[in-house]
Amino acid sequence: MILLVHGDREYLREPGDELHTDLGVVEIPEDVESGDTLETHLGEEFRARELRGPDLFNHLERTGAPMMPRDIGLVVGHTGAAAGDRVLDAGTGTGILAAYLGRLGADVTTYEQDAEFADVARENMDVAGVADTVDVRTGDITEEIDDLAAGEPFDLLTLDTADAPEVVADAAELLAYGGYVVVYSPFVENARASAEAAEAAGFADIETVETIQRELQIDDRGTRPSTAGVGHTGYLTFARK
Ligand SMILES: C[S@@+](CC[C@H](N)C(=O)[O-])C[C@H]1O[C@@H](n2cnc3c(N)ncnc32)[C@H](O)[C@@H]1O
Repeated sequence: MILLVHGDREYLREPGDELHTDLGVVEIPEDVESGDTLETHLGEEFRARELRGPDLFNHLERTGAPMMPRDIGLVVGHTGAAAGDRVLDAGTGTGILAAYLGRLGADVTTYEQDAEFADVARENMDVAGVADTVDVRTGDITEEIDDLAAGEPFDLLTLDTADAPEVVADAAELLAYGGYVVVYSPFVENARASAEAAEAAGFADIETVETIQRELQIDDRGTRPSTAGVGHTGYLTFARK
């Protein structure tokens, strides 16, 4: 897949497709490359661009509420998620976190209990170019823990589900020594329950943070924090085995 960009408009298409807009028709060559300029039959120019993480956030088909890039940045920064890591993720939802981790070079196994969401997530992993390294499985992760614990340990467990505290209680069985469990919680009660479950399970370095990011508005009048937008996204709880 490739993005065709004209000003602030972006269209996701397959090489070989045609793009029809009010700016005219563009034929996208099979061998299109990022950076190529393509002209419509009306003489308007589009620039081809390869997808990167933030593009996935804007263009993957959405099901479960996706994690935002800033929260994903904290997950990577706090856990050191890296190429070669074995990651267990739930629930997949749109698959934004799973795709970002896959693009980092991690091997990701991700569970989604809703079969239709899982199908969409598989297509999203294809668009993200990580279908080979992100294995989307249909199922409830709480029912898979015993089987997963019998296999090779994971370096990172990422949870974005209401029942995450239940999984945290058994997370030590799933992780390698030094590995991390991370829970994204939209509500503080769930963050607290996750931290308490981590404590009870004997985890170290338990920490919960709230992610608030203020964008700066820079214009001719001056510079100040933006008065628009949502400051709060959620809470991230980290714990280490
Ligand atoms: C908020 S979304 C996850 C978004 C995802 N982190 C992303 O970045 O796109 C939560 C998803 O978890 C799924 N889910 C909830 N509980 C689950 C469980 N126990 N096992 C597997 N999936 C679950 C829901 O169906 C939903 O699609």
